[in-house]
Amino acid sequence: MVKTIEWLNNTVRILDQRRLPHEVAYVDCTNHLHVVECIKNLAIRGAPAIGIAAAMGLARGAMDVKTNAAGEFLSGVRSIGDDLLGSRPTAVNIRWAVDRCLKLISDNIHLSVDGIKELLVKEAKVILEEDIQINMAIGRWGNPFIKDGATILTHCNAGSLATGGYGTATAPMRIAREEGKKISVIADETRPVLQGARLTAWELMQDGIDVTLITDSTAGALMKRGEIDLCIVGTDRTARNGDVANKIGTYSVAVLAKEHAIPFYVAAPLSSIDFTISSGDDIPIEERSEDEVTNVFGRCRIAPDGVRARNIAFDVTPAKYVTLIFTEKGAFRPRDLHFLEDPAIDLTKIRVLS
Ligand code: MRU
Repeated sequence: MVKTIEWLNNTVRILDQRRLPHEVAYVDCTNHLHVVECIKNLAIRGAPAIGIAAAMGLARGAMDVKTNAAGEFLSGVRSIGDDLLGSRPTAVNIRWAVDRCLKLISDNIHLSVDGIKELLVKEAKVILEEDIQINMAIGRWGNPFIKDGATILTHCNAGSLATGGYGTATAPMRIAREEGKKISVIADETRPVLQGARLTAWELMQDGIDVTLITDSTAGALMKRGEIDLCIVGTDRTARNGDVANKIGTYSVAVLAKEHAIPFYVAAPLSSIDFTISSGDDIPIEERSEDEVTNVFGRCRIAPDGVRARNIAFDVTPAKYVTLIFTEKGAFRPRDLHFLEDPAIDLTKIRVLS
């Protein structure tokens, strides 16, 4: 499996996803603004991956804060955190990672600045390692819902390239395959940036998983023909009530799945769940440049000059369309998600087993 991101010799090494599937190339970020740029221009994308990038970017940036005074250091790192938070608004993982690292500084403010810098680098590496374990756990909880012979529809890329390990939506697929189940994946191409065509198809083929690419508008026809057994997608931010923000087009897939009585599952690490917002109405939705719609990768114009275009990058699927949410703690009904906030809750009472 490819490494999406790693900490290497005090640089943040990022697999440049803009160049896939044609070329496996890396960007070495030597300062935090370089990491911010890679998040903005989609060299690295996918909610957990940009969370890891934020932690590594913060650690890299902290190394460049030249002071021995703890207070001055903290305010320098806060401003680096603000740069990272300003990169993309929808995935909550960036805030999750920045908050976690800032808390680490506050908890260790009695240490030397050099000591805190070392802790930040360690923490960024731990966040990556944890993500690998979380992917596995999501995979183990989601795998029982995949029957031998199943055909699974997915949208965008919530795979290895969007995380540090097995992916979120793709983790149950990978575990099912390891257990010897025969599975087929249908990948929506995912206009306009084509994460499904360029990334999901590529990474599943690398792993020898059967994958068929379709245009986004083909999903309904395949469901009607009875050719899809279940859907699994990822999420950039899931609200407390189980409303799910994910790549534009996810909502359409969910509504179609409900119409055809096909289970619609969401794979969501806890780092993608925003317990501070009560519904999806409060999720900030990124709008990107019109050029991504009127051009294919800036190389080929496909629309008349001067036409207006909208490029809403994410949509919100209301909880009522979501069958279950696979997390690292188990599979849950969207309405039970809020219980996960309570560390005392007995998860065996709310977990759903296949
Ligand atoms: O714009 P992107 O490519 O960052 O959008 C990514 C998605 O929508 C993914 O489905 C989501 O981040 C979940 S990744 C495990």
